[in-house]
Amino acid sequence: MNLSTPATPVADLVDLQPSRERIAADVVAGLSAVPRRLPSKYFYDARGSELFERITHQPEYYLTGVEIALMEARMADIARAVGPALHVVEYGSGSGRKTGILLAGLDDVVAYTPIEISRDALLHSVERLEARFGGVEMLPVCADFTRPVQLPAPGREARRRLAFFPGSTLGNFERDEAVGLLRAMRDTVGTDGQALIGIDLDKDPEVIEAAYNDAAGVTAEFTLNLLARLNREIGSDFDLGQFRHRARYSQERRRIETFLVSQCAQRVHVGGQAFDFVAGEAMLVETSHKYTDADFAAMAGEAGWQVAQAWNDPKDWFGLRLLRSAS
Ligand code: AVI
Repeated sequence: MNLSTPATPVADLVDLQPSRERIAADVVAGLSAVPRRLPSKYFYDARGSELFERITHQPEYYLTGVEIALMEARMADIARAVGPALHVVEYGSGSGRKTGILLAGLDDVVAYTPIEISRDALLHSVERLEARFGGVEMLPVCADFTRPVQLPAPGREARRRLAFFPGSTLGNFERDEAVGLLRAMRDTVGTDGQALIGIDLDKDPEVIEAAYNDAAGVTAEFTLNLLARLNREIGSDFDLGQFRHRARYSQERRRIETFLVSQCAQRVHVGGQAFDFVAGEAMLVETSHKYTDADFAAMAGEAGWQVAQAWNDPKDWFGLRLLRSAS
């Protein structure tokens, strides 16, 4: 890892949003698969991000509230465990609520790098944090974080790097992808780097299912927005009134499986091709994995990490795991 790389000036950031052709090709591939599926990474257009933010405030969606409370309760222990003078590297750029707790609670943050594929989301989050954390050098990177990222070097040298990946977003990746991502994270922060990961823990299926079927219907709107985005951006003709959100917990696979279910026999056109759906046909659009300690430790181990410390909320619903390099 070359630590003398010059800092990336904000003006040089390139928007790495996927092209229309890339999205259309992914959708055609997903609709051609048996059973059909659509990639969940396309949920997050501007409207999708707004709806996700609303989900995090729904009473049934415990993940965000529990993780924030856990961070607030254990921040002093976390700061002690990770040590001072850090370059914090956040995977994704959320609303900043958790980032704020972390940056305020750590001992001497040298620099902060959010890694995010959308330039707008990235700049927005940095703008919000800059006002509050004037002493922290902001070094955003517009990149696909599933691959190792060359980090900009802070003006003042940091002692170590800390990757921060909250929200159990790791759970939206299939197991092998999640291991690949953890490995890429280790390459990005270096062998003396650390990672703080938020994971949703396996629990009563009723609690989990309710979180993905909120009474106000925000999650259903979020799921259907995927089709609205595709119609707008790639010219498909999904009839939003003829697909319905369904989220079920598979105890066997320890994951929420979210589907869009065709309400009738219908034909959809995408990229010059026609796709026929039968009534009741379910398209898998998202998986949200829930972890046991053993599952997560095994995944981290395969990626070259070991779990150095673990913090759970009092009900063991959500956990934060501090990872250090295994070698
Ligand atoms: C971003 N991610 C962790 C959320 C989750 O819980 O899987 C996305 C989400 N999908 C529906 N509700 C929330």
